[in-house]
Amino acid sequence: MSLSRRGFLSLVGAGAVAVGLAGCGDAGAGQTADLLRSSIPLPPRFRVPLPIPAVKKPTRSDGQADYYDIVQRQAVLEIVPGYRTPIFGYDGTFPGPTIRSRSGRTAVVTHRNELPVPTVVHLHGGHTPPEHDGYPVDLVYPVGGQAGGHGQHGQHAAMTGDTRQGSREYVYPLAQPAATLWYHDHRMDFTAPQVWRGLAGFHLIDDEVSDGLPLPHGERDIPLMICDRAFNEDGSLLYPALDPSLQTTPGVQDDYMEGVMGDVILVNGAPWPTLEVDAARYRFRILNASNARRYGLVLDAAPDGGGFVQIGSDAGLLAAPVTQDRLDAAPGERFEVVVDFARYPVGTEVVLRNQLGAGSTAEVMRFVVARKASDDSTVPRTLAEIEPLPHTTARVHREWRFSRGIVNGHRGWTINGRAFDPGRMDARPKLGEVEIWRLFTDLHHPVHIHLSPFQVIGRSGGGPGRLDAGWKDTVDVRPAEFVDVAVRFDGYAGKYLLHCHNLEHEDMAMMAAFEAV
Ligand code: C2O
Ligand code: CU
Ligand code: CU
Repeated sequence: MSLSRRGFLSLVGAGAVAVGLAGCGDAGAGQTADLLRSSIPLPPRFRVPLPIPAVKKPTRSDGQADYYDIVQRQAVLEIVPGYRTPIFGYDGTFPGPTIRSRSGRTAVVTHRNELPVPTVVHLHGGHTPPEHDGYPVDLVYPVGGQAGGHGQHGQHAAMTGDTRQGSREYVYPLAQPAATLWYHDHRMDFTAPQVWRGLAGFHLIDDEVSDGLPLPHGERDIPLMICDRAFNEDGSLLYPALDPSLQTTPGVQDDYMEGVMGDVILVNGAPWPTLEVDAARYRFRILNASNARRYGLVLDAAPDGGGFVQIGSDAGLLAAPVTQDRLDAAPGERFEVVVDFARYPVGTEVVLRNQLGAGSTAEVMRFVVARKASDDSTVPRTLAEIEPLPHTTARVHREWRFSRGIVNGHRGWTINGRAFDPGRMDARPKLGEVEIWRLFTDLHHPVHIHLSPFQVIGRSGGGPGRLDAGWKDTVDVRPAEFVDVAVRFDGYAGKYLLHCHNLEHEDMAMMAAFEAV
């Protein structure tokens, strides 16, 4: 594949125009998405406590594995005080239960589908054999339902996956370092509405390296799933699906082509929550689980300045901590940080703000420094060993262009000008070999690669950005930019995906398959 200079320039030109347009709408600067407004009065901020998703207990364990059973079902939750919101939830909760595993110890998760729609489960960031990775046509049909058709962009018609009726066992060997992973729905054409309805949860991995570090732990190690939603008058989730039954026609109304953003910010499923903290260090595992919204996260500064100490990214700990005043988080990305609340006087209210939001979406949650407390944690100068991928000698270079395009005769999103086709392999990388992938975009596209993590080696010909350190599996590619990543697939041969993690873009065909060989 080659991209001519002229082709690249025209891509840049198109990007610049489109960014200008996006900036005119409600979306505000820094977003490729459209704002959906709730028809209920927005709840007051900082009134509800931060929920912490329950840690799931294995149903049983043996010498090699822990076995979990999750039921995907509908439930009615009180997300906004005084309103009842029907959701799709793993075990009927939103977020789903947190699974906590040891590196190298297999987790076998059986998902039973009691929802009215087919589902697919993907462990995002998992180093997973292909048959368990949640290929989008490997549908699990509802218990007792009919194995029916599924929505199609047209190009998909030929492909049926490895489907199941009622339930499916997903086997995760987890031969990978400690990291903050998450699991979520990945159903062909309907991932965005199904995640919006609630199908997302954390899966954390610990290992010897992470255990050996004096980082905050236990009650001071907290996952934060940040996402945005909008609500109908009756409290139900508002979403501009073309087919609200999520049975046949995929996609969203034309006005929301760029992606759907809500006006209510949820953390762990609660609107603008509050967390009372000790005046001590905390470890936060921040996940942007939004469909399309990007965040520019900042903390009200401590008297001596500064905000976050970043210790990890998508796929594990960094080599060394990095002080960050602002975390730019695109959908799918994770940032692990330590915040030292001892730097604030007791009684201080510390707001986590979003500089890429406006009005209601400019705030995320609040911490209240409640009391003095002892703290034996520290942030060590070195964290984990990270082998730099030897990319200068890479022989295979591939280019992936993420841009608007025509999908089955309609406006959609494409990679290298083509709509997703689960039966077409667009690359055949060799296991064990380092490749350089250049990701070009027109607008903002958070690009996610399955199977193996990657290292960012540069942006638009320069060096990596300040948030690009460590092992990544999702990278925010900004308008008219290109990002070079070094990747080495290993472990499992088979079919995997790369796609935009703006879930509306993903559903509207911005996805490609490759076969690791
Ligand atoms: Cu988080 Cu292919 O997805
Ligand atoms: Cu993934
Ligand atoms: Cu995109």
